[in-house]
Amino acid sequence: MSEVWEAAADLVVVGSGVAGLTAALDAAELGLRVVVVTKDAPDAGSTRWAQGGIAVVLGDVSGDSVDAHIVDTLTAGGGLSEALAVREIVSAGPSAVARLRARGAVFDAGGDGRLARGREGGHSAFRVIHAGGDATGAEIERALVAAVQDRQLPMLAGHVATDVLRAESGEVAGLGVLDDAGRPGVLHAPAVLLATGGYGQLYASSTNPATATGDGVALALRAGATVADLEFVQFHPTALCPVAAPGTGRRTRAVGRLPLVTEAVRGEGAVLLDRAGRRFMTGVHPLADLAPRDVVAAAITRTLADTGAEHVHLDATAVPQFAVRFPTVFAACRAVGVDPVREPIPVTPAAHYACGGVVTDLHGRTAVPGLYAAGEVARTGLHGANRLASNSLLEGLVIGERAARAVAADRQVPRAMGVVLPEPAPAVAIAPRSIVQHAMTVAAGIGRDAAGLASASDAVEAAIALRVPTDRTAVEDAALTLLAQAVLAAAGHRRETRGCHVRTDFPERDDVWQRSSLVIGLDGAGRPTVQEMAVAA
Ligand code: SIN
Repeated sequence: MSEVWEAAADLVVVGSGVAGLTAALDAAELGLRVVVVTKDAPDAGSTRWAQGGIAVVLGDVSGDSVDAHIVDTLTAGGGLSEALAVREIVSAGPSAVARLRARGAVFDAGGDGRLARGREGGHSAFRVIHAGGDATGAEIERALVAAVQDRQLPMLAGHVATDVLRAESGEVAGLGVLDDAGRPGVLHAPAVLLATGGYGQLYASSTNPATATGDGVALALRAGATVADLEFVQFHPTALCPVAAPGTGRRTRAVGRLPLVTEAVRGEGAVLLDRAGRRFMTGVHPLADLAPRDVVAAAITRTLADTGAEHVHLDATAVPQFAVRFPTVFAACRAVGVDPVREPIPVTPAAHYACGGVVTDLHGRTAVPGLYAAGEVARTGLHGANRLASNSLLEGLVIGERAARAVAADRQVPRAMGVVLPEPAPAVAIAPRSIVQHAMTVAAGIGRDAAGLASASDAVEAAIALRVPTDRTAVEDAALTLLAQAVLAAAGHRRETRGCHVRTDFPERDDVWQRSSLVIGLDGAGRPTVQEMAVAA
């Protein structure tokens, strides 16, 4: 094994999206020595791909209010969002957005000089601010990376996190990493913030980039943190479904990272049509095409099953100035030979967002002293069983900032350190990614049942080999394997349909299940075990 290099900091931030970079910048402003670790290029995570925007009530839209945003969030969350989390995060939106703008992010202005607003599924008002039309995440990432560079914060790109290191007391003592050449390193620090994004790569088709492999949830579980609500994997209703060229023998090319067709397109009046040209969302929900995302994705899935089609159509031909308002979507459509100005766009649901994750308080603290989480990797109680569109950038900003303050406050409490290095590095369960993705796609998408979940679980278990991950791919495959085990266990446990979790064998919501399911630790064989969150007395 190569020699281990070592360095020290007050805080190691793992991940360089909106939550991670916000936390890193705020922690540096609070005087902490911060290192950002990211396994790829700084802007390779999910933030850059976010299109719709940030849902926030700034008080300048008549008829809208923080209370209305709260109600919409709770409604979308299917009874599992926590009221306090929703109120605190939604209420903190305006100041978080002001700080982001002060850091250089530029949002689109409307004709009247105020910020322009879009509308997405589940929102009762036009309240989503956006940048570059539909390139909001790209603008936020640009501004935050520039701010980090201006401040000369150390950023270790191309380093994948392997272990959260803990002292004998159980407290965090640092982070183990591997660089692109597989060389190990150790960052000694009393605080580690996980901001690694989600786990869309569990599925064969996803709107997420290749980096979304669930690394943070796996790191947290192995470090002894609690995770919750993993069964609530949100599928975006409208990923672009490229139709295969004639003669390829395939019907579509709907695998891998599918370009998003933002819900804001429906906010501007586009409608979903089945293969007969019928508007199938009318009658499904009072908000029709702008129903919450879980409702629309499930309706599309039912329509595909009923008609045997591989995609439905999104008719945006009546949307004014499509190419100006939605330049990213327009370019993606044109790249596959579709002209959205003149013809309907072929769309299909694709894995998009992890509503669950590492359980944190509203300051990013997990159950492990010194371990924090923020952004998609975390479960604060905001999203419940189904995230309201464009609430995630908001959450990343608010909790990223709060986590930085929590780290600064917590370090005032003296702690005994003393690193325990995992030496030799432990062997972990790793199944081939293709087997994991196939099993999850077949059995754990929209529409799950006990038999399918059990056979997916058997397929993953049968493919597992125990080995020590020595490069990024193996670290990611180990994370995906653990996530597959955990999601399958949580989905099998919840015998009802709620939010993004659709059980065909238990098609109704059953309020016996109105509580989160938790994964607390791993059993002796390293498998996650599920139990229910205690109901508050
Ligand atoms: C979208 O633009 O439709 C996605 C926004 C989100 O996932 O919040």
